[in-house]
Amino acid sequence: MSYLRKNIERLEAYMPGEQPPPEAKVIKLNTNENCYPPSPKVLRVLKGFRGELLRRYPDPMSKALCAKAAKLYGVPADWVLAGNGSDEHLALIVRAYLEPGRKAAYPVPTYALYRTLARMQDAGLAEILFDEDYHLPVEGLIRSGAVVTFICSPNNPSATVAPAKDLARLASRLKGILVVDEAYTDFADENAMSLVRRFKNVIVLRTVSKGYSLAGLRLGFAIAQPDTLEGLIKIKDSYNVDAVANRVGIAALSDQAWKDKNAGKIVKSRAKLTKNLGRLGFRVWPSQANFILARPPGGRAQSLYRALKKRGILVRYWNQPRLDDKLRITVGTEEENRALIAVMKEILR
Ligand SMILES: Cc1ncc(COP(=O)(O)O)c(C=O)c1O
Repeated sequence: MSYLRKNIERLEAYMPGEQPPPEAKVIKLNTNENCYPPSPKVLRVLKGFRGELLRRYPDPMSKALCAKAAKLYGVPADWVLAGNGSDEHLALIVRAYLEPGRKAAYPVPTYALYRTLARMQDAGLAEILFDEDYHLPVEGLIRSGAVVTFICSPNNPSATVAPAKDLARLASRLKGILVVDEAYTDFADENAMSLVRRFKNVIVLRTVSKGYSLAGLRLGFAIAQPDTLEGLIKIKDSYNVDAVANRVGIAALSDQAWKDKNAGKIVKSRAKLTKNLGRLGFRVWPSQANFILARPPGGRAQSLYRALKKRGILVRYWNQPRLDDKLRITVGTEEENRALIAVMKEILR
């Protein structure tokens, strides 16, 4: 006999990409980590970390960290809520807004965690298909009547950006909350931060996992008007951001030059990788992120995924409609990308 709630019994758990041990000899292009290391300023803070800071609980509202982030985003400090990665903010949002009888909407394919989290709340789902070019299905999303609408921009896995005018239209027409998940924005040409000032129902999510090379730290920010953040603050864990993330986060945000330099290198490598895959017959969607979505010649993605894995290169493959003929490939260092192309050539020959 199981005492689980029925919807949890039925729930298909979210499947993160494979994480081999750090010493494994693989080229890891499967979970969109930044291919460059974190800022030396971050490592310095870690090396000098005082035990006293660990003995005590951290500041429940991470005030110094939020003040730093707010300055960067151009909003008042109480418009920022720090969290244990954007994934925590997503979990807080569904817990605050979704329940049976209410709906979450999002275009698909997108970050699969939205579905898992909404199902945990036993909420309804309005999953609206993107077209082949990943235009935002604005009208369908508005018609869905959802209480929470998730837009991932740049979208994982297509790497395409939602145009500002579409997002503004959604924010003004939706009868609910619009969450713009900007995990990959550090590699993009445009973002939706200005919408937070214009619309009370918009929550923008940012993370240090990608642009700042700190996926292992677990730190993200929700940016919204204070009335909107209030509900999330009520239900968060008291000490949701640990003492290390509080300090290291400030150091990371202080080194914009490091983040920008690495993002610039990734954007350049992305263009080169796109061109080289194009030469091998791949269709590659225009990317604004640190990964690309690519359809191999003949759509033989699954066999290519397996052949790459056998040769020590991990990329992401999903055996599901719209994605089963494509691979999502994280942009690696120049050396990693060269190795990928060389192995692809060999396999495809
Ligand atoms: C679209 C999207 N949002 C959020 C996250 C998770 O971010 P974080 O590491 O801050 O929890 C990811 C991670 O891959 C992602 O792809």
